[in-house]
Amino acid sequence: MKIVRTIAELDLGGEVGLVPTMGALHDGHRSLFRAARAENALVVASLFVNSAQFEEESDLATYPRDEARDAAIAADEGVDVLFAPSAEEMYPAGFATWVDVEDVGAEGAARPGHFRGVATVCLKLFNIVRPQRAYFGQKDAQQAAVVRRLVRDVNLPVGIRVLPTVREPDGLALSSRNVRLSETERQQALGLPLALAAGAEAFAGGGDPVAVARAQLNGLTPDYVELVELDAATVLAAAVRIGSTRLIDNVLLKGDLS
Ligand code: PAJ
Repeated sequence: MKIVRTIAELDLGGEVGLVPTMGALHDGHRSLFRAARAENALVVASLFVNSAQFEEESDLATYPRDEARDAAIAADEGVDVLFAPSAEEMYPAGFATWVDVEDVGAEGAARPGHFRGVATVCLKLFNIVRPQRAYFGQKDAQQAAVVRRLVRDVNLPVGIRVLPTVREPDGLALSSRNVRLSETERQQALGLPLALAAGAEAFAGGGDPVAVARAQLNGLTPDYVELVELDAATVLAAAVRIGSTRLIDNVLLKGDLS
């Protein structure tokens, strides 16, 4: 695997699959690398902690970073090129152009400016790498919806794939931020997937998934519990705060995400 740090060095030909990441790689990222490996001649992963999408200075400062470990995982999954630019390479002095997707739902409303940062870095990565396909996780369903909106609205020639959420055996969705949870918080966190599962079950039986999930959060205070429309799919999504950590998760209610 080649590690590339400048845009000028990235001269790729042929069929390219891109997996954008911020590192702290886990099995969720691995599943995206595998999906990309299965259908592209060349697989590029990006590793860039995108300051533009963080609203809280402390969240950015404490975001887990370990490039050597991430590079080993990417290489292990058959990634051909790891694009790991510096902040200056992506946002040089004078940078002044932002992409604002207007319809960003409850997650966007809860994190003002977040999806502006996500959409801008994704558009830059698509232009830099020029992939035929790009891979995202259902874990961040609203993000996937924003990226699909971006691609459609500005006519980008890239196919967006959305892969199912990878979970711990007890149901907690894998997240780079899970390492911040104490043992007690880790137990409390289970309330999130359990409430969403209860909501999905209620929906299957003709009930109100949002009301049921809200009622079953087991003491966790939600930022929101809402339905997210993702093209041909509807998911039940929620965000909760546990101590200083914010966790999001969602489950598929109907349709197909891929
Ligand atoms: P990051 O949090 O590193 O996630 C990179 C990709 O991995 C995202 O598409 C995310 O949805 C997916 N992912 C995370 N946890 C997952 C899980 N448990 N199962 C399946 N997929 C999972 O999301 C970002 O980075 C950034 O916002 C980025 C798109 C790179 C733009 O900066």
